[in-house]
Amino acid sequence: MRALGYQMVDKVVDHLMNRQEQPAIHTGSPTELRSALGGPVPLEAGNPEEVIRLLTESAFTHMQHGDHPRYFARVPGPSSFAAILGEWFATGFNVNVASWLGSSGPATLELVVCDWLRQLMGMPDRTEGVIVSGGSMASLTAMAAARTERGPGIVYISDQTHACIRRGLLAMGFPPGDIRVIPTDDEFRMSIQELSIAVLDDCGAGRLPLMVVATAGTTNTGAVDPIPEIADLCLASGMWLHVDGAYGAPAYICPEGEQLLNGINLADSLVLDPHKWLFQPYGAGCTLVRHPGLLADSFAINPEYLRDVGGDSDQVNFFDRSLELTRQGRAVRLWTTLRTYGVHRIQESIQRCLSLARYAQQKITESPETWRLITPAQLGILTFRLQPDIESASGKDVHTQLAARLSESGFAAVSSTTLKGQDVLRLCIINPLTTKDDINETLERLAAFVPLLSSF
Ligand SMILES: Cc1ncc(COP(=O)(O)O)c(C=O)c1O
Repeated sequence: MRALGYQMVDKVVDHLMNRQEQPAIHTGSPTELRSALGGPVPLEAGNPEEVIRLLTESAFTHMQHGDHPRYFARVPGPSSFAAILGEWFATGFNVNVASWLGSSGPATLELVVCDWLRQLMGMPDRTEGVIVSGGSMASLTAMAAARTERGPGIVYISDQTHACIRRGLLAMGFPPGDIRVIPTDDEFRMSIQELSIAVLDDCGAGRLPLMVVATAGTTNTGAVDPIPEIADLCLASGMWLHVDGAYGAPAYICPEGEQLLNGINLADSLVLDPHKWLFQPYGAGCTLVRHPGLLADSFAINPEYLRDVGGDSDQVNFFDRSLELTRQGRAVRLWTTLRTYGVHRIQESIQRCLSLARYAQQKITESPETWRLITPAQLGILTFRLQPDIESASGKDVHTQLAARLSESGFAAVSSTTLKGQDVLRLCIINPLTTKDDINETLERLAAFVPLLSSF
């Protein structure tokens, strides 16, 4: 076990130390990967060293490396080493944070971590939390709690709300007709005027407004909805305010982010994803709910076969706070991270990303012959498009083509998206290991593909 374990540590540390020389993303062909990793069901024991070789040489070499300093696509996952150690420990000890009886220690870590996050987000004292697999599940958990408290009704999202919110609502049984999509303004923020009109309309028609889902850092542009105004409207009309800060909310811990994200602590429920900007490996999204006891009111189960697992007064059975019964010990990695680095170091890391994104914005505006900035650096995200407009030979969007060529080269990964009908390239810079050179060279390599577009 030790020899194999040490091999694994060496492989992971080699990856972490040398990742900037390796591809940011590499996608394999289904046939080749199936032939390397598939085959008949292995009925007999195999050689564990060969297992390690296949994992590291075939499986893990064909993936996106969200922790790569030049991985700027979608939302990166710049996990830190302390978090990886925490995750290994939790897995090594096979932590299951379900009942108090069976996990009082790890459950305490989760209570402590949720309370630290609550304090960092400026939420009130008695706010309760739970850590689930990611932002999608965290918002579903929060929205289910909202419906438990307020009953069914109309939900308001914006045209920039992450797709997981609609999916979560539909999975919970909300009729599609009860989901209103409010247009955003020129800065891609939910229009408070349009929202007020929609709420008035629904009230006038005898329908019950239930909840507004505001976004604190949209996936497309990093825009933050006007949360204080939305909170006022929610208060006046008895609506629940859910804030999806899956990627953006962690920036609240630095002064610049606190200003940008003003009002997120007014939320009835707030989601933030440690596996995005709190430097955790994938698989950690946190739901914070302002109303004590509501998570348990929404999710508690009490079958006879779980009657002897504890759960009196301050003994929390975490299986009562979400849809999961058996639960990974996800707080272990976050607790390890916070205790190891401290909040100040994390603040500095986030602040560095905010500054790097501004640097990228400056480089783009300095190249008006190639690029036009579409949305400025907001919470680490900026978007831009080719200047002048160019058509590709295939008629496909050139920005998608450029992003694909760059990913194929492995040097860096960026994504493309569409903003109010306009195709753009998008950088999401949330990895503090990224350097200015990484940004310069990524932009240069993208520009170098432009003359070749006519052949794509
Ligand atoms: C704003 C926002 N909400 C929700 C999600 C979904 O989070 P997850 O992929 O962890 O389920 C994302 C993912 O990028 C996001 O950016």
